[in-house]
Amino acid sequence: MQELKAMANSNGISGYTGTAKALHWTVVVLLIAQFILAWIMPEIHRDTPVTALISLHFTFGVIILAVAIVRLGWRATHGEPAPLDGMPPWQAQSARIVHWLLYGLLFVVPILGLINASWRGMPVVMFGLELPALIAKRAPGWGWTGDVHGLLANYLMLALVALHVAAGLYHYFVRHDGVLQRMLPGK
Ligand code: HEM
Ligand code: HEM
Repeated sequence: MQELKAMANSNGISGYTGTAKALHWTVVVLLIAQFILAWIMPEIHRDTPVTALISLHFTFGVIILAVAIVRLGWRATHGEPAPLDGMPPWQAQSARIVHWLLYGLLFVVPILGLINASWRGMPVVMFGLELPALIAKRAPGWGWTGDVHGLLANYLMLALVALHVAAGLYHYFVRHDGVLQRMLPGK
C-alpha cells in the first residue's frame, strides 16, 4: 500500500486535484447549510408534519450523500498527495484517521437520516421525485436511528471537524508548513 502510494505520488500527485478541492469545499458549504437547517427546523416527534424546512433538510442531506459518493470515488481513483517532508509520523497518521472518520460520517449520518425518515413514514422528496422508503414505517428495532443520527452529527462530526480545522490553522499559523494551502484553490 505504501509502495503503491509512493508510486502514485511519483506519478505526479503533487497536490490535491482541482476536483478534490472543489468537492472538499462543496461539502463544507453544504454541511454549513445542513446544520443550520437541522437547528432551525422544528423538532421531529411522532406526528410532526414534514414542513418546508424539514423537507429541505432531507434534500440537502441526500445531496451531501451523493457528493460524498462522488468524492470517495475520486479519492479512490486519484489517491492523495504524500504528507509534507518533515511532518512527524503521528501527525500524518492522525490526519489520515480523522479524514477517514469524516468520510465514514459523510455516509453513515445521511443513511441513518434516510432510514429514520422511512421509519417515521416521512416522504423524502428530491426535486419532486419521492425516493423509495428504506424500511417500513415504525419497523420494530429501528427507532434508535433518529437519536444516533442527531448525536453523531451534532457531537462526533462537529468535534472531528473542529479538530480538523484546528489542525489546519495550527499548520498555517504555528508551523507555517503549507498544509492548509494545499487544500486552497489555485495552489
Ligand atoms: C450529512 C448530512 C446530514 C447532517 C449533518 C444532518 C444533521 C442532523 C442533525 C444535527 C439533526 C438533529 C437536529 C437537532 O439538533 O435537534 C438531524 C435530525 C434529523 N435528520 Fe438529519 N442530517 C443529515 C442528513 C439527513 C438526511 C439525508 C435525512 C433524511 C432524508 C435526515 C433526516 C433527519 C431526521 C428525520 C431527523 C430527526 C431525527 C430525530 O430527532 O429523531 N438527515 N439531522
Ligand atoms: C473550514 C473548514 C475546513 C478546513 C480549513 C479544511 C482544511 C483541510 C485541509 C488543509 C486538508 C488537506 C490536509 C492534507 O493536506 O493532508 C483537508 C482535507 C480533508 N478534509 Fe477538510 N477542511 C475543512 C472542513 C472539512 C469538513 C467539514 C470535512 C468533512 C466533514 C472535511 C473533510 C476532509 C477530508 C475527508 C480530507 C481529506 C481529503 C482527501 O483525501 O480527499 N474537511 N481539509
